This record gives sequence, C-alpha cells and structure tokens, in this order.
Amino acid sequence: MKGIILAGGSGSRLYPLTQVASKQLQPVYDKPMVYYPLTVLIASGIRDFCLISTPQDLPRFQHLLGNGSQWGISVEYRAQTKPEGIAQAFLIAAPFIGPDPVTLILGDNIFFGGDALPRAFAEFKSGATIFAYHVNDPERYGVVEFDAEGHAVSLEEKPAHPRSNYAVPGVYIYDNEVVGIARSLQPSTRGELEITDVNKEYLRRGALRVQRLSRGTAWLDAGTSSSLHEASAYVQTIEKRQGMKLGCPEEAALRRGFLSLDDFEKLVTGLPQCEYRDYLSDVAAEVKRVGLKSA
Ligand code: DAU
Repeated sequence: MKGIILAGGSGSRLYPLTQVASKQLQPVYDKPMVYYPLTVLIASGIRDFCLISTPQDLPRFQHLLGNGSQWGISVEYRAQTKPEGIAQAFLIAAPFIGPDPVTLILGDNIFFGGDALPRAFAEFKSGATIFAYHVNDPERYGVVEFDAEGHAVSLEEKPAHPRSNYAVPGVYIYDNEVVGIARSLQPSTRGELEITDVNKEYLRRGALRVQRLSRGTAWLDAGTSSSLHEASAYVQTIEKRQGMKLGCPEEAALRRGFLSLDDFEKLVTGLPQCEYRDYLSDVAAEVKRVGLKSA
C-alpha cells in the first residue's frame, strides 16, 4: 500500500502565519503539523510515501523529511501547481502509485487514539474504505448518511442541510481503481476535483466501506487559527498526562519494526539536546526494558 500526504493549498485561513511557513509545517504543540498524519500512516504499516505540496513549499518539506531513510521509510515529492482539488493528488501521484492500492491523508488532519485506522489498513482488500466521525458542525465537511442497518446511502460535500452528523475525515483507503476514477472526474462548481465525488463513485459501484470511528478516537483538523490552537492544547494535555508523545515518526517507525533499536539509538544520538531527544532516549530505554509492544 502506497501513501500520499496532501500538504498543499493556499493556507489563506491561517494568514499571516502562512507567510512564514505553509500550514502543514506550522507547529502543533511541539512538532510540525505534518508529523501527525505521517505518524498515523507509519503506525498503520505504510512505508512508501509521496508528499504533494506547492512548488514553493516543497523544499521546506524536503528539508524536514528528507528521503525518509532515517526512519526506515521512503518519501518522494511532487508539486501541485494549483490547488485544483484533493482528488487531483491521484493524477499527480499516478506514477508513484503504479499498480498498488493507495491511502491519502490530508496534511492538516490529526488523529489520535483507538486502533480503528491500523485495523482498517490490515483488513483492506479492495474497493474503498473511508471513515465517519460524529461532529457538531457537519456542514463544514463531506457528510455521510446511513440507513437503519448502518449502510452508507449518501455522501455530500459541505451540504447546507446535512442529512447526518457524520463527517468524513481526511484519510481514505483505495484500491488501484482510484486512479481511473480520478481521471474521469469533472471539476465541481468550485472548480475542484472533489474527493467526495471519488467516494460517491465507489458507493455507486457498491464498493465503499464506511467505518464509524468511535468516541475513543480524536479527530482534529488544524485548518484555522483557533482549531490550530485547540489542537496544540489537546496534544499538550495528552502528552503531559501520559508521558507519551503523539505524532512522533521515529517512535512509530521503531514500534512498527521499520527501524531497529540500534538504528533508532544512532538516530537519537545525532539529534540536538532538546526535550524531543530526551523523550526518544526514554522510549529506547523503555523498549529495552519491556519490549516493543509496551505502548
Ligand atoms: O478535513 C476533512 C474534509 O477535507 C472532508 O470532510 C471533505 O470532504 C474534504 O473536501 C476536505 O474539506 P476541506 O474544506 O477541509 O478541504 P480543504 O480545501 O481545506 O483542503 C484540505 C487540505 O488539503 C488542506 O490542508 C489543503 C490541502 N489541499 C486542498 C486542495 C483542495 C491541497 O493540498 N490541494 C488542493 O487542491
């Protein structure tokens, strides 16, 4: 399974912060935002990544993530010259996807808790798997409606009158059909290739699985100044309470077996003295004591 991280867009809702760095490079408490979706996919077993961003922001991402080998993964980069829709990612990344299934995650979506995502990746065989999350303000999102048996019956992008409170979060799993589906899409009235139209096509084919995320899972999007602040406060609260970090790709790579303990320790030794390094040293010590499955 290949993984796409979509981290472009104009970032206008975070102006003037985005004059300094793109939205997905802004800090969420103690790490750049893109660490969180990247970590979710590493923890789900994804190793081959393509990060898509604007031509002007790509060098900053390359500087931050390199080719991924330091974490036992591979990261390549592609530019989206204009933000012409989330589904355009499948056209831009088609050579990277090749014949494989693919997951796409939005660079400003933060997930925490529960094992629904890793389980969905492990169970995925064909078609599409998307998720549904109960929210207060469904009109801001793609919205899925369920029938009495819990089957998805409709999908709408930002409906004025939502048919349910279930929003579709920004992580999607597809078989290789997605490339052909994306190629056949027409731009919506707002001029974008809509991810909701991709999902509607899978629904029409009877190949869409919608998995509800339970209340034990947190899904935050950090797309506005206040949601960015809330996401930081949330991460800080959890990290302080548990003494475990969220969104730490090094740790996820170690626990997933992408990095050996030896390589992990070498990596940590190369980091500057800081809280982040102290934390990773503690992780190494704990793994030595109680093994990899400790958290
Ligand atoms: O967050 C989940 C929601 O994301 C879904 O429920 C919606 O169905 C989906 O359309 C999307 O809605 P948004 O209004 O949040 O989409 P937005 O245009 O803000 O784009 C989401 C992220 O993707 C954002 O960080 C910028 C990036 N992006 C977006 C577009 C349209 C790109 O990199 N390129 C693009 O062309």
